[in-house]
Amino acid sequence: MSTLLKDKNILIMGVANKWSIAWAIAKVFHKAGAKLAFTYLGEKTKKSIEKLIEQEGMKDVLLLSCDVTKDTEIENTFDILRGEFETLHGVVHSIAHAKKEELEGSYVDTSRDGYMMAQEVSAYSLVSVAKYAKPLMLNGGSIVALTYLGGERVVKNYNVMGVAKAALEASVKYLAHDLGEENIRVNAISAGPIKTLAAKGIKDFNTMLKAFEEKTPMKRLINTEEIGNTALFLCSDLSSGVTGENIHVDGGYHILGY
Ligand SMILES: NC(=O)c1ccc[n+]([C@@H]2O[C@H](COP(=O)([O-])OP(=O)(O)OC[C@H]3O[C@@H](n4cnc5c(N)ncnc54)[C@H](O)[C@@H]3O)[C@@H](O)[C@H]2O)c1
Repeated sequence: MSTLLKDKNILIMGVANKWSIAWAIAKVFHKAGAKLAFTYLGEKTKKSIEKLIEQEGMKDVLLLSCDVTKDTEIENTFDILRGEFETLHGVVHSIAHAKKEELEGSYVDTSRDGYMMAQEVSAYSLVSVAKYAKPLMLNGGSIVALTYLGGERVVKNYNVMGVAKAALEASVKYLAHDLGEENIRVNAISAGPIKTLAAKGIKDFNTMLKAFEEKTPMKRLINTEEIGNTALFLCSDLSSGVTGENIHVDGGYHILGY
């Protein structure tokens, strides 16, 4: 386990705090020997990541400000990475956002503005990130995005984010197709519900968690380390033949028809 990502340079996008799925992935990657860089949104988040990095004993970590709604910031992020890393081996895209008022009630009431925002932050950003990551992935690479079952099926209150996840999952396939020849693999992890900052925005999230725990074949919640381990597989050479895939880390919840 401890050498699976040795000599691999990986960018983690989407740590907000210690509960972030991206942070759990970063911890697993660190233990597996990866050299990490992080992007963050806003100074408050930067401070929180700095503290986490120190607590975890991560050394020589690069921290870059990047708002994914701005192509110039994404381009700048990869320009800096080009200067720091000879080559990039992986990117974890763990970013999503929707207006709180869109994550309750009926999808039919989604505003144009709310729809565009969710798509821009949560789906289009992966396309832009892949575009700028590609020239740095000189020896191939792995791009991993985080998604949720609400992109495949209707999940109460997930609304506009479900439609953004559907676009994200379709993008994973189109990007995998475009970048395959360069040996750049693009995959998604569809995680079961986890209590994080982003999840708090979804109305009745706790009820959703409880229902998940009761119904899912494994009869328990998923922990973030399990998601990290799957991301490790996807960013390591163990998954060298896997692309365009959506791996469910949800205790089997997605197989249910009731
Ligand atoms: N928590 C869950 O139940 C769950 C389940 C399945 C999938 N996911 C997905 O996992 C990913 C990570 O979410 P999380 O649950 O860890 O929550 P989180 O709030 O910890 O992470 C979301 C991240 O998105 C970032 N972000 C939002 N807008 C941004 C922007 N404009 N530019 C750059 N970054 C921006 C935030 O700063 C934050 O770091 C998301 O894609 C989410 O949809 C979450």
